[in-house]
Amino acid sequence: MVASVEEVPSERPDYDPPVTRHFLTGEELTSDELATLLDRALELKADRAASTALAGRSVALVFERPSTRTRVSFEVGVHELGGHAVVLRGDELQLSRGESARDTALVLSRFVAGIAVRTGPHEVVQELAEHASVPVINMLTREHHPCQVLADLLTLRERFGQLDGLRLAYVGDGNNVTRSLMVMGANAGVEVAVATPAELAPREVPTGALLTEDPAEAAEGANALYTDVWVSMDDDPASAESRRELLEPYRLDERLLGRGAAGAVALHCLPAHPGDEIAPGVLYGPRSAVWDQAENRLHAQKALMELLLGE
Ligand code: CP
Repeated sequence: MVASVEEVPSERPDYDPPVTRHFLTGEELTSDELATLLDRALELKADRAASTALAGRSVALVFERPSTRTRVSFEVGVHELGGHAVVLRGDELQLSRGESARDTALVLSRFVAGIAVRTGPHEVVQELAEHASVPVINMLTREHHPCQVLADLLTLRERFGQLDGLRLAYVGDGNNVTRSLMVMGANAGVEVAVATPAELAPREVPTGALLTEDPAEAAEGANALYTDVWVSMDDDPASAESRRELLEPYRLDERLLGRGAAGAVALHCLPAHPGDEIAPGVLYGPRSAVWDQAENRLHAQKALMELLLGE
């Protein structure tokens, strides 16, 4: 039966429109949600076909920067959840010819269940999230890399059985991964100690995180020692030599790993430059958890997409 015009309510006081939840910095998840998400990621790792949360739905994956792990893990993840990934390089979009992030968000929201973006300025993902009516996921900006840290926490959860009370030492450049580790580590109950040269230190240090210039101090008793490239993709190539000189004392080598707790593991989000920020013997050695960490991008992001985009 077709309702007459008079029967259609002009207001719907009993109707709460669905809240669109984004994932831009990692702070969007409560501690409990983060713990539940990591538990779910372990279930999805044990059975990769366990969820069809994206059946019949599409997800836009926008890459304005190069990627190996993020690109493959998101595309495979959407497929394994029963969905379809629309992978878009920056130069394929009208964004590259001046169309605004606002208009891009408004249009993509009409087609897809979620928009995941890798770009430079964090303001781009913020603007997309402001105007999208579907969840926006940050796949890396200059400021934050929260999807990476979901995988890092999953790796620690897997190795140590729990996160609360662990100590993670990050040594090297104070970059987007450093920020996300500090923000999300605190939320997970992990004490994050960061050692960087003063010139490359993060501007803000969240409560609970430790910042020092001394790599040995950060590494002391740590359960995990983590490093990242010395020259990131948005860094000025002309600064490479001076950055290398500053960061030379921050290499994650066997001696620094030896300062960690018994059973400490080495982490690196990759791509690595063995011999620069990490010694080859650590990257490929028995205490490296790096390859599990890379695989865990897939499982953590599937759990995230199930939470944010699933019906
Ligand atoms: N760690 C990481 O984000 O890897 P890619 O740059 O290859 O995606």
